[in-house]
Amino acid sequence: MASGQLSRAEALACTGCRHACHVMLYSDTKSQLFGRIPIRHIILMQMRFDGLLGFPGGFVNPSKESLEEGLTRELLEEIGVAVPILEENHVESCYGPVSSTASASSGLILHFYAKKLEEEQILDIERSAASTAIEHGHEVLGMVRVPLYQTRGEGGLSLFLSHSFIGNARLQLMDCLMRFGLISAKHLHKALSHSVETHKHTAQDLESALALIQRKQN
Ligand code: APR
Ligand code: MG
Repeated sequence: MASGQLSRAEALACTGCRHACHVMLYSDTKSQLFGRIPIRHIILMQMRFDGLLGFPGGFVNPSKESLEEGLTRELLEEIGVAVPILEENHVESCYGPVSSTASASSGLILHFYAKKLEEEQILDIERSAASTAIEHGHEVLGMVRVPLYQTRGEGGLSLFLSHSFIGNARLQLMDCLMRFGLISAKHLHKALSHSVETHKHTAQDLESALALIQRKQN
């Protein structure tokens, strides 16, 4: 097991820890972008209240509910559908980032799950996330799909990966893309390399925007 990771049972043995569960919901699709670029898979993420991209889910209280029951409860609040999550959907558990309230002995433990659905179920979720989910417009600003393709202008996955993510959500996404064979290592490597370059341009854009605002203030 990779360092910082722990089994589900080890994680639950830490009674003083806080636990948070998140899930990657995804499906296959035959649809195409512009009628020619295969979309291949629909992967759901969300724009969170803090402006970061992340997966649906949240804090769970193992003294009152199982991890999976708690995650299903969170899903009802955040996407409007109580998608049943089972132990078999568990992918990994790890200690939360040190920058949060976490520490290896008494902090936050993050549990990650993945569940494959039918495309129609994903479409239902997208509809209910924007209509009946009680957290819509509050903790969740909107659901987003992960573009797995690259357009000729390098749009798609590489630009998506260059956004800002909560905690280790970007790594969780990349791990699941590889683990479930949703993308090849070669394509992911290429997309990430381009993301690093994009990030440099983004930093320059931000510097220019800051300079503009400073000039307007003076
Ligand atoms: N990797 C690492 N940490 C993550 C990830 C991730 N992929 N996703 C979420 N977290 C962290 C968050 O930073 C937070 O500390 O897990 C914790 C719980 O996840 P949330 O989805 O933010 O929790 P939720 O129960 O949905 O509610 C959000 O928590 O921050 C408070 O006041 C805030 O009311 C809000 C609530
Ligand atoms: Mg949440």
